[in-house]
Amino acid sequence: MILESISVGLIVGSCVSFIKSLSFNSSSLSLELMTIFEQMRIGVPIVAGDKEVWLLPTINKEIVYPWGHRFLINLPVGKSSRDVIMAKQALSEALRKDVDIKFDNGLILDIFNEKLPEMVTYHYVQRKDWKVPLGINQRHDVHYFDFDAPYPHFVDGGLSGSGKSCIIRIMLTSLIMNKHDDLQLYLADMKEGVEFMIFEHIECVRGFATTLKELLQVASTVEAIMLERLTTMRKNNMRKWNNDKCVLCIDEMSDLIETDHDPDKRLKQAIKAKLRAISAKGRAAGCWLILSTQRPTVNSVPGDIRTNISTAIAFRTRDEIQSRTILDAPDAAYLPDIPGRAIYQHGVKQEIIQCFYLDDVDAEILLESAPRKEIAHAHNESKSDPGIQQPAINETAVKTKKMGKRPVVLK
Ligand SMILES: Nc1ncnc2c1ncn2[C@@H]1O[C@H](COP(=O)(O)OP(=O)(O)O)[C@@H](O)[C@H]1O
Ligand SMILES: [Mg+2]
Repeated sequence: MILESISVGLIVGSCVSFIKSLSFNSSSLSLELMTIFEQMRIGVPIVAGDKEVWLLPTINKEIVYPWGHRFLINLPVGKSSRDVIMAKQALSEALRKDVDIKFDNGLILDIFNEKLPEMVTYHYVQRKDWKVPLGINQRHDVHYFDFDAPYPHFVDGGLSGSGKSCIIRIMLTSLIMNKHDDLQLYLADMKEGVEFMIFEHIECVRGFATTLKELLQVASTVEAIMLERLTTMRKNNMRKWNNDKCVLCIDEMSDLIETDHDPDKRLKQAIKAKLRAISAKGRAAGCWLILSTQRPTVNSVPGDIRTNISTAIAFRTRDEIQSRTILDAPDAAYLPDIPGRAIYQHGVKQEIIQCFYLDDVDAEILLESAPRKEIAHAHNESKSDPGIQQPAINETAVKTKKMGKRPVVLK
């Protein structure tokens, strides 16, 4: 439904006297919005005779959607859209509703009927492409991350318990369910492998690291695959690797933070050098990174690696500096304390989403249909790259699984 309404408001001097021209079908929300513009002095003061007159924004169009109302707004000359965007929080509080404001050939102000839900359960849907679902925005649009897009690497960051491992579980489960025949997964999880335990015996999981040494092996393997592919591509004049893809996923990059007198300093630097190379050259070779960090700093995700990753999810961060390490903005520091609530940044676009939720029990049920390794042979298995040494798989994980127990989370 589209309500055409033109509203022109003038505030004269400090006495609140208005000249309004409102069409008969202006909604109560548009009237409320105009009143708030007046009260917040969102306008431009001009001098008319000996009086100061305020020119207010005008509403060109109001569109009603299932999720709320969209207002297309004209600003008076001299009022920048940036000023209104900066006033978003105050507008939202005055309206007592969530709002979103952006500039796209004019100012677009969305007022939402409902709050973003605090929990949205993940449901698996089979797909043929490389897109994995992340979550929904307040317009109920589902956001996907497309590994096959021009910028395939991914990073997420945020406080402990904010939902980082959950979204990675969804990404890996979706990839495995849809693409296990075309996929080689390399997983690194320094918490004794507990986060990724459910994936360990899936056939397409070719490497599983639980120590820094194993991570270096895994990262070296992925780099070697990448370099081999790039050589093949050069020889055959190929611009893109169109065969199986390779994903290296690291659950906690803060394990790579170097401290003073760190005995593992060289090991950590060597791992970061591999990640740097994969982030820079992996795209064309179909070698992709998924990185996650609880302490987003330039020491855990170095700037040159971060620069090569254009898709990021920031859950709530401790402060603006941490937020800026993940996003190009401080906003993740001000997210509500809701697990799964995050800012999704794709290129220059940013949007608040509620990430889907999938616990490890439901993920394991889904993964029952995925091809599995023979556990007895798992140690030395390397199907597509027989020359490359594989890190040992986690013995504790295997035993726990065989006995049918749930994993114990080691802190
Ligand atoms: N998308 C989500 N929606 C709702 N609750 C979530 C979501 N993601 C995580 N949680 C809750 O938060 C807890 C911690 O999530 P987790 O992914 O392990 O956080 P992190 O890896 O950031 O420490 C989960 O056990 C779950 O209860
Ligand atoms: Mg985690």
